[in-house]
Amino acid sequence: MSNKKKPLVYITRKLPDPVETRMRELFEAELNIDDTPRTRGDLAAAMARVDVLVPTVTDRIDAELIEAAGPQLKLIASFSNGIDHVDVEAAARKGITVTNTPNVLTEDTADMAMALILSVPRRLAEGARILTDRKGEWGGWSPTWMLGHRIWGKRLGIIGMGRIGTAVARRAKAFGLAIHYHNRHRVSPQTEASLEATYWDSLDQMLARVDIVSVNCPSTPATYHLMSARRLALMQPTSYLVNTARGGVVDETALIKCIREGKIAGAGLDVFENEPIVNPKLLKLAHENKVVLLPHMSSATIEGRIDMGEKVIINIRTYFDGHRPPDRVLPRRT
Ligand code: DGY
Repeated sequence: MSNKKKPLVYITRKLPDPVETRMRELFEAELNIDDTPRTRGDLAAAMARVDVLVPTVTDRIDAELIEAAGPQLKLIASFSNGIDHVDVEAAARKGITVTNTPNVLTEDTADMAMALILSVPRRLAEGARILTDRKGEWGGWSPTWMLGHRIWGKRLGIIGMGRIGTAVARRAKAFGLAIHYHNRHRVSPQTEASLEATYWDSLDQMLARVDIVSVNCPSTPATYHLMSARRLALMQPTSYLVNTARGGVVDETALIKCIREGKIAGAGLDVFENEPIVNPKLLKLAHENKVVLLPHMSSATIEGRIDMGEKVIINIRTYFDGHRPPDRVLPRRT
């Protein structure tokens, strides 16, 4: 590629230094050193002049922006696993290739799902807060203080048994949870056997029978509010919901109501319906120790972010070398 003109690449957020450095070596890379979130106007202006846009989950690249893009924009190489923030159909109509960064966030995300599965029933965040809020002053151990609920021997219902769901299942099995799952397709008999997993083609049936629900499916039009008010009401009053996928999969207003009314025991959430805004009613529940809230950090490891950057670089490089980039995202079949 040395004699070829380097592609002009616009990166919307600050990326880890090694990724940015390599991007500068390989491309005409426009960085965002101070990490100021780009406005819609910034994105539109960039899309009118650059060859490659590297957005993240914080940028909404919708049909209107894509249709207004200049003819030189050939590739949207998203620095993300999820791709619900990019209108892939609109990009395909305009002949723009879209790529993402799959596989490299699986284990990190599954770790945090497991952390939330533990945190809520075992009151982890609440316990940590007690010590810090009281400046280390606590009465000492007592047989009946800070009692949570046992994880071992309980049933976990995983919604979406893809890479992340399966990685959650592996961890959960080691913690003594019985694995149940709902997925569009049943996983292979080998995977099912190794996880000792029980498949439910009916999500409704599964929800009524498990103690903890972990949401691990992608955000698509079909999964929007999959956990609707009706489905949340099917869960047991002693059960918990954990969401490390996307906020829109769960009807947040209905979830808040169910927890408030004691129809569900609590929730652990890393993602929200209107990020970065967090519903104040959820914050109130957090203060009452009914939910554990994390600021969309399930995949936040330095190793993971560098791997994501590597993937973006490979996708851009492969595209401009005239090949099909490895992580192409195709429009969904309707
Ligand atoms: C992704 O890349 O989809 C993640 O949600 C970011 O943490």
